Amino acid sequence: MNVLVAVAWPYASGSRHIGHLAGAYLPADIFARQQRLVGNRVLMVSGSDVHGTPIAVRAEAEGVSPQDIVDRYHGEIVSQWEQLGISWDLYTTTGTENHARITQEMFLAQLERGHIDKRVSDQFFDPEAERFLPDRFIEGECPNCGYGDARGDQCDNCGRTLDPIDLINPRSKLSGATPERRQTEHFFYRYSDFTEKLRTYLNSKTDWRPHVVNFAKGWLEDEGLLDRAITRDIDWGIDIPVDDLGPGKKIYVWYDAVIGYLSASQEWASSDANPGGADDWKNWWESDESRHVYFIGKDNIPFHALFWPAQLMGAGDLHLPDSIPANQYVTFKGGKASASRGVGLTIADALDTFQPDALRFALAAALPEQADTEVSEEEIGRRINEELVATWGNLVNRVLSMVNKNCDGQIPDTPGSAPEDHELLAAVDAAFEEAGAFYEEVELKAALRTAMKAAQAANGYLNATEPWRLQKTDPVRASEVLHTALSAINGVRVLFEPFLPFTSDQLSAVLGQPTGWHRDALVAGTPIDKPTPLFTKVELAEAD
Ligand code: MF3
Ligand code: ZN
Repeated sequence: MNVLVAVAWPYASGSRHIGHLAGAYLPADIFARQQRLVGNRVLMVSGSDVHGTPIAVRAEAEGVSPQDIVDRYHGEIVSQWEQLGISWDLYTTTGTENHARITQEMFLAQLERGHIDKRVSDQFFDPEAERFLPDRFIEGECPNCGYGDARGDQCDNCGRTLDPIDLINPRSKLSGATPERRQTEHFFYRYSDFTEKLRTYLNSKTDWRPHVVNFAKGWLEDEGLLDRAITRDIDWGIDIPVDDLGPGKKIYVWYDAVIGYLSASQEWASSDANPGGADDWKNWWESDESRHVYFIGKDNIPFHALFWPAQLMGAGDLHLPDSIPANQYVTFKGGKASASRGVGLTIADALDTFQPDALRFALAAALPEQADTEVSEEEIGRRINEELVATWGNLVNRVLSMVNKNCDGQIPDTPGSAPEDHELLAAVDAAFEEAGAFYEEVELKAALRTAMKAAQAANGYLNATEPWRLQKTDPVRASEVLHTALSAINGVRVLFEPFLPFTSDQLSAVLGQPTGWHRDALVAGTPIDKPTPLFTKVELAEAD
């Protein structure tokens, strides 16, 4: 099966924080790794979202060019993916020629099919800066919830997607001036053409997370799908492929960014990384047999569950999202993490403090899959020490040390056949099925709990059999017990691989590369050196 793992494109407008990591990138990577182990052909793509007012506003504030902002943060983000072990097939940007071309082609195809038209509408204009103020160039009160600092495109308080013209008491981010209404002409995408098709599409998604499908359906009920402008009065973005509107206008960032999933798939297919040839992307996008799973935060639901499917429907016969397991928010001391407001740990801070696998573990254990989830540095440290190190790290260290010491430094050829031996290995094997079912539902926290349970079973087995004691009384049985415990570890490390790629590699160097989503047989005679512990304990700050 060809699986597209499509991951929200982070704006290259600032440092990303661990809320973003737990919201989309980490779950996507965990899912992609497990799907590869199962034997699926996974294409995991994303890139930096480099257009739009998030970048332009930042550049304006710093007095540098938008490209400077993009270069700075794209570089930072890419280096963090490496440090975190995020296994992209391609991480690109929306600034490529390939992406611009495919965006323009899609625009022209939809124009041709009558889904795009031109309209005159009112926009706010800054009389001092003498410029139109799209999206985040303007702030004011949210017309929905009254929050005072809503941005033109979205309210951070109630999560509504906004049209800047609806803000109450608007003010310009450029000059602080009170903007005036002026008429301006733009291209509109006729999203309303697809309201009925989208209702049918969403009604067929009976296995989606309730908060995702209910939100999307609720949106259609309230207002249907409204036509929306897909161009802006801004000079930073992709060129509109027809001249009708005159200068100073570009394609709207959200229209182009979602097309990144398609353009990145094509960029990957044509690259040296893919031996399958330039048309290979069609095996994901022009095939009914593939599966497309989108990893996003909940603020992106309308764009992925409504607008992107409508864009795809208007472009021709391209594969629609099969599931959108959007996550809720990670909160810090009750507030939503936000890089721009300085709330929560940045990824850079977290990587300074924690080992990458340990950080991945602690965040995976707290993924906000069904509800907003509070995370703190103390909680991350506690989980690392009390769960990861205590249950898994110590188990591996104990068993490898005993095999090294008591079995001539190699894996013995002494499989046990006592009932408790069979029971333990059967429990590990059953965990693959149980966790596999959770992955199908993208219930990654539950999949992690299953792996932990299997590790706990191995700990329970050691406590019951006490091989360190047997060593003196019954060395033959001791060696069987160690063989059984190491067999269990050989399975459990595969259950953990999606979460702990670095330390799993460390174990693969000892036990051999896993061959799939199952427990491989041990190879007797494999040398087992004195182990280096997989994890180090975190120094916990004194609780106050
Ligand atoms: N840049 C957007 C954000 O950070 C997400 C874009 S996802 C894409 O919220 F699909 F549009 F690329
Ligand atoms: Zn609001």
